[in-house]
Amino acid sequence: AAPVQYQAENATISNGLVESNHTGFTGTGFVNYDNEVGSAVEFTVTAPSAGSATLTFRFANGTTANRPMDVSVNGSLAVDELSFPGTGAWTTWQTRTTTVNLNAGTNKIKATATTSNGGPNVDRLDVEPPSGTPDTVA
Ligand code: GCU
Repeated sequence: AAPVQYQAENATISNGLVESNHTGFTGTGFVNYDNEVGSAVEFTVTAPSAGSATLTFRFANGTTANRPMDVSVNGSLAVDELSFPGTGAWTTWQTRTTTVNLNAGTNKIKATATTSNGGPNVDRLDVEPPSGTPDTVA
């Protein structure tokens, strides 16, 4: 199945602003995380079945400093300090992919800045949900 796209500007934002002053975003804008530890965006995503899902964050970081974020799923840390390196310009958007386990149904995926620089600008999260039937355990 194609990944499902979740726009950051439609997610739940803690200490950040929806902006549109740097071109190249999809949807109506992107989230500018406040420059502080703990600023966050929480996406509500749906998975048809439980299992491993591929997450792809579309982001820009116009600085030369990595802006890592913790990725939590349903309140539990899933990926510790996922790196979001500089992309060269605030108008240059790149993707960062990781894998997490989702429950069947609704899941909360939260990306939280871990340094005082805050997160990168985040445009979108694409979720490729678990596919197929689970492997049979012999
Ligand atoms: C600049 C840029 C913002 C960005 C910010 C930051 O102000 O215009 O889009 O979010 O830097 O450093 O986080």
